Amino acid sequence: MVVFALPSSLRYAEMANPPSHQPLQGLSPREVDRIVAESFVEQVEYHAELDSTNSRALQIAHEETSCGGVTLVFAESQTAGRGRGENRWWSGPGALTFSLLLPGEHLSLSTGEWPTTSLIAGLAVGEAIGQFVSGETAMVKWPNDVYLRGRKVCGILVEATSGARGMLAIGIGVNVNNSLAEAPDELASSAIAVCDVARCEVSRVDLLIAILQRLEKYLRELGSGDIRWQEHWRKRCLLTGRAVQLDAHGGRLVGICRGIDGDGALVLETEAGLTRCLSGVIAHFE
Ligand code: BTN
Repeated sequence: MVVFALPSSLRYAEMANPPSHQPLQGLSPREVDRIVAESFVEQVEYHAELDSTNSRALQIAHEETSCGGVTLVFAESQTAGRGRGENRWWSGPGALTFSLLLPGEHLSLSTGEWPTTSLIAGLAVGEAIGQFVSGETAMVKWPNDVYLRGRKVCGILVEATSGARGMLAIGIGVNVNNSLAEAPDELASSAIAVCDVARCEVSRVDLLIAILQRLEKYLRELGSGDIRWQEHWRKRCLLTGRAVQLDAHGGRLVGICRGIDGDGALVLETEAGLTRCLSGVIAHFE
């Protein structure tokens, strides 16, 4: 792999002819400088194509070549984007596809709080999207999706390395300018892009920075115990009040969602009463 270190903290990877001042397909060095100046990201690794930004982030974690702070792995496209479980993540040109690599101790996060970071990321993405689509609320579908107008606009995959120096990889894929208007019916009815709602092209870098700024704020609040979960979920939990089927621990739970509690657990009202679910896969909701 060829890696070019630039003063701007940018690493152009796997490129035969690294640009000097010309913008790449997507991110220019100036935009990378903006990301570093306006967010908690200290190092950016840019790829025109990768298998998966999460896989690359985990690889960096094992190589210990990260800067010790927050590293952003950004890819224009992925050949094997991964989702939760067996899910695959596909996105066309114009999407935002990245992973953040965070040292575990960063922002005072304890390992117990790591699973909650996918909800935090959903919250950050939902709020940031709201800046670009006036009058719309992007909703978080527990535990790792963001929905806009009832369709999936973003998927989140959080993974961690074990060991003394645990690292957290927060992978985020957002449909931004990859309109799904012309996609096959099946996809067009289940997914949506920000530009489909904004009705114009949206700056991916502005959206990325908006996400990163909120993510830092909420991760810090999580670390210090100051996060106001109830306030956020009252407004943004997609499943509240809906009939939900959840697969967890080899069984299926059926109930009405009563929201998300202060530990990030999904609360279901089942025949057995209120049940808190800290993990699982939503098999169905209506
Ligand atoms: C899901 O829908 O289950 C989660 C999808 C997560 C996709 C993002 S795209 C950036 C990062 N790299 C990956 O391989 N996956 C995540």
